[in-house]
Amino acid sequence: MIGGAALHSGYLDVREQAAIVEDIRAVVAAAPLFSPLTPWGKPMSVRMTSAGKYGWYSDRKGYRYAERHPAGTQWPPIPERVLAIWHRLVSRARDPDCCLVNYYGENAKMGLHQDRDEADFGWPVLSVSLGDDARFRIGGTERGGPTESVWLRSGDVLILGGAARLAHHGVDRIAAGTSTLLPKGGRINLTLRVVD
Ligand code: SIN
Ligand code: MN
Repeated sequence: MIGGAALHSGYLDVREQAAIVEDIRAVVAAAPLFSPLTPWGKPMSVRMTSAGKYGWYSDRKGYRYAERHPAGTQWPPIPERVLAIWHRLVSRARDPDCCLVNYYGENAKMGLHQDRDEADFGWPVLSVSLGDDARFRIGGTERGGPTESVWLRSGDVLILGGAARLAHHGVDRIAAGTSTLLPKGGRINLTLRVVD
């Protein structure tokens, strides 16, 4: 992978994963999952919500961070157990402003993109995988350059910092039935980012 990408395979044990899933259930109860529209007006196959100061949002007006859930309510706080991963692997100096919660059903995928809606790319992106395995694709900072694939499995933590902070990445597919963590299957991905 491109320099600055660090995959911590199996970082979370099964108990920790299950506890975080419970935390995310509470987040989803307060801020229900929704399917954002792409700027081209098509609903994304991944359902999303957020915790933290900001939530990531998209509609015909484009990608951005929003201070409120589409229902008009504030985003719930980022669960402590999730913040603790950031503290251990990134920093205690600054907490992330957003924990994006992505839910992938068995047919969901995410096209190649860069995370570039944040003000300071000096902070890495930290992503946590829970549930079914995902075929993750990562390339470089140039659009259309070479890419490679890696499987992200439940409990893995991926950090994109340095050159990898602006690497193109996406999810080609979910391997249904590869994990028993989520009773109805699928995959949860949590993405922590400093926004301001
Ligand atoms: C994302 O780029 O927002 C999600 C990546 C992933 O699901 O692993
Ligand atoms: Mn992304």
